[in-house]
Amino acid sequence: MINQNKTLSLSIMSGKGGVGKTNIVLNLGYALREAEQSSMLMDCDLGLANLDVLLGISPDKNLQDLLQTGVSAEDVLVPIEPDGGLDILPATSGVPELVEMDEDMQDIIIHKLTGMAGDYDFLILDLGAGISRTVLSFAALTQLRIMVVTPEPTSMTDSYAMIKVLSSQHKVRDFLILVNQAATRNEAKVTFERLAAACKNFLDITVTNLGYIRQDSTVIESVRHQTPLLKFAPNCPASKDIRALAKRLLRYREDNRDRISRRPILRDFPEM
Ligand SMILES: Nc1ncnc2c1ncn2[C@@H]1O[C@H](COP(=O)(O)OP(=O)(O)OP(=O)(O)O)[C@@H](O)[C@H]1O
Ligand SMILES: [Mg+2]
Repeated sequence: MINQNKTLSLSIMSGKGGVGKTNIVLNLGYALREAEQSSMLMDCDLGLANLDVLLGISPDKNLQDLLQTGVSAEDVLVPIEPDGGLDILPATSGVPELVEMDEDMQDIIIHKLTGMAGDYDFLILDLGAGISRTVLSFAALTQLRIMVVTPEPTSMTDSYAMIKVLSSQHKVRDFLILVNQAATRNEAKVTFERLAAACKNFLDITVTNLGYIRQDSTVIESVRHQTPLLKFAPNCPASKDIRALAKRLLRYREDNRDRISRRPILRDFPEM
């Protein structure tokens, strides 16, 4: 029997740090909410949590409690909008012994989250940067992956390296590329095309273009005010681009619904 899931799970990841993942996760959640789609945002940065910082909240339970103790995902979830539709599963910083994920932790996450996540339209994972074992395991768990890349050469090479490792170690071959902090439309286009060409030529992987978000100083201001960009400045260029991103993602889900919904919300990829 074919198992169809309502929920779409996706990881937001990057090779290089500081490219804008956490801001994208949070504001994509808001943009999807505007489109009447509910999301659970999961902070998977076990070393440096920051979804809570962007919101100026200090949750008393977090992902580490979920992994270590008997609490359920429901006890750890923080609703961030009074009318619902957007909840956060926070992480915490500075617990070095928990920074690496092992197979037991992966099993607990799959077990405890799959049921809860099934109530939402989207489960969005905010990953730490780079190619640690933990990051790669999370990236391989979800149905889809968005690689955030900036036009900086180091961001492009690190993104390519991460795609290479995920494809060779975890058999993952589908990637959606989002260019963030593009100065112009053309710069975004060139960035995507360079990364896409490297993936095609050296890995035989065809990546999907999910568009771009403009460089916009309002993002920096919204971070300083600990207010999500879509609330802080709903009509600034980056807010408009994030809404367009949500629309493209919804269209992608429609166009690929059969293929995506047959996969479990969270699955265990074999390491090769
Ligand atoms: N579109 C944008 N325009 C201008 N600045 C941006 C944009 N996106 C992100 N930034 C800047 O980049 C900073 C880092 O963003 P963010 O914390 O979301 O990155 P990250 O990829 O989650 O970082 P980390 O790898 O440390 O988790 C923001 O505080 C903001 O100053
Ligand atoms: Mg982050």
